[in-house]
Amino acid sequence: MDNNKTFTMIKPDAVQNGYAGLILAKIEKAGFKITAMKMTQLSAESAESFYEIHRGKPFFKDLINYMTSGPIIAAILEKDNAVLDFRELIGNTNPQEAKEGTIRQLYAKSIDANAIHGSDSDSNAKIEGEFHFS
Ligand code: CMP
Repeated sequence: MDNNKTFTMIKPDAVQNGYAGLILAKIEKAGFKITAMKMTQLSAESAESFYEIHRGKPFFKDLINYMTSGPIIAAILEKDNAVLDFRELIGNTNPQEAKEGTIRQLYAKSIDANAIHGSDSDSNAKIEGEFHFS
């Protein structure tokens, strides 16, 4: 399977706080090519479907409320070793534990409002990309 594509969403807090441009610039500077991108607002139905894997977890309801609270920017990114390199660039899910200089350390406030999503595997990158761009 290709390992040169990943999927990202700049989340409502980052869009709301005016960090979208800074985050996209950091992504491009790190060598990722943006091959598809759109700003959109998730409905509860689409957010639940996207995050189906987390259904039943204690944070699921808050996650859906949060992800539907404002516009997001969805994008497909290309680079060699895209999934792993992108997860390194964005940092730990919990911004308190994210390394210095990562997107979440710089722009995220909490584990819920953590600024950005990155796919966790090549197969999920394909599924998530197709969810938003097909
Ligand atoms: P992300 O990995 O992009 O997608 C699932 C999101 O659920 C995750 O980012 C966090 O923003 C949110 N979340 C809230 N609490 C947790 C938790 N305990 N573990 C993992 N994800 C969490």
